[in-house]
Amino acid sequence: MKILITGANGLIGRKTIRLLIKKKEHQIFATSQKRVQFGPDVNFFTVNLVYSDVNKLIETIRPDVLIHCAAMASPDACEVDRYSSSKINVEATVRLATACRDYGTHMIFISSDFVFDGKKGDYTEEDSTSPVSYYGETKVEAEKSILELNIGATIVRTALVFGCDEHLSRPNIALKVIDHLKNGKPYKLPFDQFRTPTNAEELADALIKLAEKRVGGIFHISGDEKISVFDFAKQIAKVFGYDDSLLLSTSTLELAEAARRPLDSSLNISKAINLIGFKPKPLSHSIQSLKEHLNILDATKGCS
Ligand SMILES: NC(=O)c1ccc[n+]([C@@H]2O[C@H](COP(=O)([O-])OP(=O)(O)OC[C@H]3O[C@@H](n4cnc5c(N)ncnc54)[C@H](OP(=O)(O)O)[C@@H]3O)[C@@H](O)[C@H]2O)c1
Repeated sequence: MKILITGANGLIGRKTIRLLIKKKEHQIFATSQKRVQFGPDVNFFTVNLVYSDVNKLIETIRPDVLIHCAAMASPDACEVDRYSSSKINVEATVRLATACRDYGTHMIFISSDFVFDGKKGDYTEEDSTSPVSYYGETKVEAEKSILELNIGATIVRTALVFGCDEHLSRPNIALKVIDHLKNGKPYKLPFDQFRTPTNAEELADALIKLAEKRVGGIFHISGDEKISVFDFAKQIAKVFGYDDSLLLSTSTLELAEAARRPLDSSLNISKAINLIGFKPKPLSHSIQSLKEHLNILDATKGCS
């Protein structure tokens, strides 16, 4: 099968590509704005999806499946630069979805737990969306437009994805916690925001399963342990053997980030468990794997 991954420079794109390379079962095509070296198994295209002809891209590659990971994925950046975030998160996504319709490509779109307002938690795929940030709004708008096209696409909502790779375009919260503690810097984290943190490698595996089965519809794919962001950081400190007194328990109100955050956006993943056999490992296990992976990367090229 030909699989095209956008956002190849990001954490989720990279992990998906690395797993596809390991599997050796599919032809891999990838895009990002900056060139990433994946070796000879990946056909790489340097593309700005906002300004390029994405129809031509799909027409040229003719992928069986598109896994669309490219986005402005920082909620604060989206809040500050609404114009650019709408261009990539909504407009480019809708143009890609339309091209997928025209060339018979199955689309997998990565959405977010931030489509919810966080008042309820344990959200299922049937719960109504009600974003509290502009980032969340762009995800809802893109989801709606894709569903309206009626192309049998898959929408994967995920949450607080963590992992490491070489030269990531954006550090994730786990890497930020490690960086602060390693360098003796205090770090303020919210005790009142609850998430279901996601191991990036497990998410990548689920994305490939969905691509192979071409199952349409909305899927929640995340870890199955609900935890506050502060306690997540404490678990990381424990596994890595760092002094956790530098982690400062702070309220969301006090943090006053540019984008409003849902308080409890934990996802219910029963549908993914039942339909694709998704089975996340315990969070402590995933943090331990991250530690081992970081040790390997530190010993070779370094992780960002
Ligand atoms: N990470 C999370 O915790 C999380 C949680 C929920 C949902 N998601 C969603 O999952 C998807 C992937 O997230 P991620 O964390 O892997 O993102 P990321 O690390 O921020 O990477 C985003 C990728 O998008 C690419 N990109 C951005 N603007 C582009 C443009 N105009 N044209 C082409 N490529 C562009 C970037 O390319 P360059 O670096 O080359 O510019 C980068 O490869 C996103 O849709 C995000 O909203 C992520």
